[in-house]
Amino acid sequence: MLKDKIAIIGLGYVGLPLARLFATKFYVVGFDINTDRITELKSGFDSTLEVDNETLQSVLIVEDADSNGLYCTNQIDKIKDCNYYIITVPTPVDKNKRPILTPLIKASESVGSVMKQGDIVIYESTVYPGATEEDCVPVLEKFSGLKFNEDFYVGYSPERINPGDKEHTVERILKVTSGSTPEVGEKIDNLYKSVIKAGTHLAPTIKVAEASKVIENSQRDINIAFVNELAKIFNLMDINTHDVLEAAGTKWNFLPFKPGLVGGHCIGVDPYYLAQKAQEHGYNPEIILAGRRLNDSMGEYVASQVIKGMIRKNIKIKGAKILILGITFKENCPDVRNTKVVDVVSALKEYNTDITVHDPLANEEEVYREYGICSLKEIPNEKYDAIVLTVAHEKFITLDLEILKSSPSFVYDVKTFQGFQSDKVL
Ligand SMILES: NC(=O)c1ccc[n+]([C@@H]2O[C@H](COP(=O)([O-])OP(=O)(O)OC[C@H]3O[C@@H](n4cnc5c(N)ncnc54)[C@H](O)[C@@H]3O)[C@@H](O)[C@H]2O)c1
Repeated sequence: MLKDKIAIIGLGYVGLPLARLFATKFYVVGFDINTDRITELKSGFDSTLEVDNETLQSVLIVEDADSNGLYCTNQIDKIKDCNYYIITVPTPVDKNKRPILTPLIKASESVGSVMKQGDIVIYESTVYPGATEEDCVPVLEKFSGLKFNEDFYVGYSPERINPGDKEHTVERILKVTSGSTPEVGEKIDNLYKSVIKAGTHLAPTIKVAEASKVIENSQRDINIAFVNELAKIFNLMDINTHDVLEAAGTKWNFLPFKPGLVGGHCIGVDPYYLAQKAQEHGYNPEIILAGRRLNDSMGEYVASQVIKGMIRKNIKIKGAKILILGITFKENCPDVRNTKVVDVVSALKEYNTDITVHDPLANEEEVYREYGICSLKEIPNEKYDAIVLTVAHEKFITLDLEILKSSPSFVYDVKTFQGFQSDKVL
């Protein structure tokens, strides 16, 4: 029997680690429309820092190699010999927070144009329940001329990785799987089982698997919104929220969430996918959207807290030099997409302050292109009237704040970062 060949469509934060993992057991073709990304991967470097150079280089192979491994390409005809197609393209929202399915549809068109009888297409991108069968399958049918569940099959297996987290890597996270028929579900489950050390959970339907992913992130978003609301309430009462959470956390079933900025392209985005689908069905989700509104208001709130703290210390606001530590959407990760630190920066700018942004991980060009903000890899040797820790990068642990502080200076810690000598935390 011929060995399975796997194509991974979209080699980003999700696609590359998955392609690398499958490449240890299968012949894998990684396809991405971004030529620069293919060039960097072929050179053995991953700018998302999810796969280290040595690990990546250990699986790279040349085209049609007679062994397992990963061949990266931006040419669609190079994936036509595969029999599994795994789609890991972005699923963002537009400025009105409506799901953008264009990458998913385009990727389905590409796969549809090359797939053959018997092939299986698995979606991993986060979507609302129904997207695979109602939005993607018709595209696959149209572009392949094949019939769903007769000539080809689909599956959905959501990704749960946590970028920057070197402990919960793809093979160490239990994976939910599903298929368009019970037999295909088993087949897909076995495919993932062959590489995922943590095991799999075969969901009864594709819609169940889709819904399970979108509620995981929505649940997180709502829980963080709750503690953000608590922070707003307790700040008014001059009570330290973290002391309260620590005390409440001694109860066995109190959930350990912390207040903070909710950015990125998962937790701050996925709830809108569920909300849109609920609205299509005539239900207006109240808790989900309230959580989103609250979390989206936190950047401005942090800025107002900084200004209040500075005023309390008699620091002149106009022209004040403020150092922002971290611009990425989360710690130890270079991803700046949908970072909420930009809300803090733009709110502080409205007070005519002089902002310096430092982030050792963010790509300066990308930050400038996306947000018009100059992010510096090194901190200019100056004194600052306020310092705001917005992202808890490990690299900040060794920072000596004392040499950066004016006298007086106000230090605000959004992340309750261990050992960070702040005047106030969120
Ligand atoms: N990053 C995460 O933490 C994470 C975790 C779990 C799930 N997800 C979900 O996984 C999906 C992918 O996220 P990501 O963070 O890997 O995105 P990403 O932007 O890092 O990577 C997506 C890649 O797909 C490529 N691409 C876009 N359209 C394409 C097309 N038509 N054909 C081929 N390649 C195409 C892009 O060039 C890019 O390299 C999203 O649905 C996301 O919500 C992400």
